[in-house]
Amino acid sequence: MKIIHRIGTPLSASATRVMLLGAGELGKEVIIALQRLGVETIAVDRYADAPGQQVAHRAHVINMTDGVALAALIEQENPDLIVPEIEAIATETLLELEAEGRATVIPTARAAWLTMNREGIRRLAAEQLGLPTSPYRFAGSLQELKDACAEIGFPCFIKPVMSSSGKGQSRLDDASGIEDAWAYAAAGGRVDAGRVIVEGAIDFDFEITLLTVRSIDENDVPVTSFCEPIGHLQVRGDYVESWQPQPMSSQALHRAQEIAKKVTDELGGLGIFGVELFVRDDEVWFSEVSPRPHDTGMVTMASQVLSEFELHARAILGLPVDTSLRTSAASAVIYGQHDAAGIAFEGVAEALRVPGADVRLFGKPQSFARRRMGVALAAAGDVNAARERAREAAARVRPVTASQ
Ligand SMILES: Nc1ncnc2c1ncn2[C@@H]1O[C@H](COP(=O)(O)OP(=O)(O)O)[C@@H](O)[C@H]1O
Ligand SMILES: [Mg+2]
Repeated sequence: MKIIHRIGTPLSASATRVMLLGAGELGKEVIIALQRLGVETIAVDRYADAPGQQVAHRAHVINMTDGVALAALIEQENPDLIVPEIEAIATETLLELEAEGRATVIPTARAAWLTMNREGIRRLAAEQLGLPTSPYRFAGSLQELKDACAEIGFPCFIKPVMSSSGKGQSRLDDASGIEDAWAYAAAGGRVDAGRVIVEGAIDFDFEITLLTVRSIDENDVPVTSFCEPIGHLQVRGDYVESWQPQPMSSQALHRAQEIAKKVTDELGGLGIFGVELFVRDDEVWFSEVSPRPHDTGMVTMASQVLSEFELHARAILGLPVDTSLRTSAASAVIYGQHDAAGIAFEGVAEALRVPGADVRLFGKPQSFARRRMGVALAAAGDVNAARERAREAAARVRPVTASQ
């Protein structure tokens, strides 16, 4: 674990340089937070003018799953820290570079490698750490999938081992959809198109993201802090609304923190983790973890003293963190609604007239109907009022095509 004890001047020989691998809306906010602390930032993505590239000192466009291209860029830029923002990167190259002492990956290369594959993180959580999870099986062929579904039973979820944001994921109530689910997983997964996880459905009351921060204290000893739980609503595996704090029993909160501590201790390093958990009464199940800011955590830009992005920036630089809540708040996603480049947004002023509301437009060059192009945030006295305000503000923003 590399600890940074000084921050230099950007664009000079003393600069502290941080390279973001992935520069979407989450990376953009991390870059802004780093720049406020005087860090030189380098934004890498697979397409030009990605949100984070618009605010970074330098930008590069490469295929981040190409290990040779990735290693060459890291050598060229020689950053102090590498911060993965997405899963789809050549993590084996990061493992090699870190082992040779040529790169420091946040939180660690092993964490990035393990969490990009559902099999890696699920086996670690359930089989090594003994955390409660949904029942699961892995399958590498249609026949294995049929057998796995028969063992797990219905309803169940089928997901490519390498995918995010619900891509390639199906929920089955009976055996009739198995073949379609297999084909859908193969098409929707990132790589290794032939492997899926089958998970028994957990009948939860609600699901949360427990943002967990590993930072260091004044003696350079790692310490763990928790944000208030974030509740969220997923549609087809993609987040549409989140709010903070999610009310839950003290017993369930205690269990959630215990699970999050175990898994983040195991992954190690410094930075923020989004630990996804299912909750029913006092019972808690581990679902998955991302070693980086979480999309549902965008609500923290309205709710916390320090947003999840500021927390990440501080933690990775070896600075102290403050995870306290400022107010109840919510977020609601603004979708593109059009498949077009260079769209525009009307109604932003109306959205901002909703009391307590704020809006982020990510600046993505290309819109898709179901692509997340912005988010509405709203603070209020309680989460229900905040959710209503965030939904209302998001609905007032109208994406239009340039020709409209
Ligand atoms: N085993 C399960 N039981 C109940 N709901 C699930 C289960 N697995 C996934 N889901 C639902 O689908 C969403 C997305 O699944 P997740 O595993 O988090 O995929 P992704 O990596 O794409 O975010 C979850 O947030 C949850 O709402
Ligand atoms: Mg998830």
